[in-house]
Amino acid sequence: MKAICPGSFDPVTNGHLDIITRAARTFDHVVVAILTNPRKQPLFTLEERVEMLKIVTAHLPNVTVGHAQGLLVDYATSQGAQAIVKGLRPIQDFEYEWQMGMVNKELNDEIETYFVMSRKEYSYLSSSIVRELAAYGGTKLDELVPPIVAQRLREKVTTL
Ligand code: PNS
Repeated sequence: MKAICPGSFDPVTNGHLDIITRAARTFDHVVVAILTNPRKQPLFTLEERVEMLKIVTAHLPNVTVGHAQGLLVDYATSQGAQAIVKGLRPIQDFEYEWQMGMVNKELNDEIETYFVMSRKEYSYLSSSIVRELAAYGGTKLDELVPPIVAQRLREKVTTL
């Protein structure tokens, strides 16, 4: 079965990468897809986020990277995917992900949403906390994101 792992990935963190890796063990093919979240104004351009995702997933043979402007369920259909995989951190994700899962089910009943519980060591991690850390000097960044992402974050905050 083919799955979509959607998100803003602004930027991809070790927590995202763990969910992608675990999804790739369960599903035949995983498309990591950058979609537009109208609630967020990204720090990295779409091209920058795609490039970082391609680099950090290059070792996973059944993972590809894509992007789309429209609805997630329409993109999933266009890719021949029957599943959406999302990471779920304790407490903060539930309400939003539950709502999204419900809406996506209403939009297309053929596509199932699967939640993968985040590992405890990544349960507090988010792209926004990583961006904030980078803006304040980047302490601990290398423990939270892949090396290429830490490098791009440092370059980005010095040019802001
Ligand atoms: O990493 P994020 O920001 O939580 O990812 C959210 C994302 C991009 C997956 C979500 O906003 C999304 O699915 N956007 C595409 C538009 C869509 O299908 N929205 C849901 C139905 S209104």
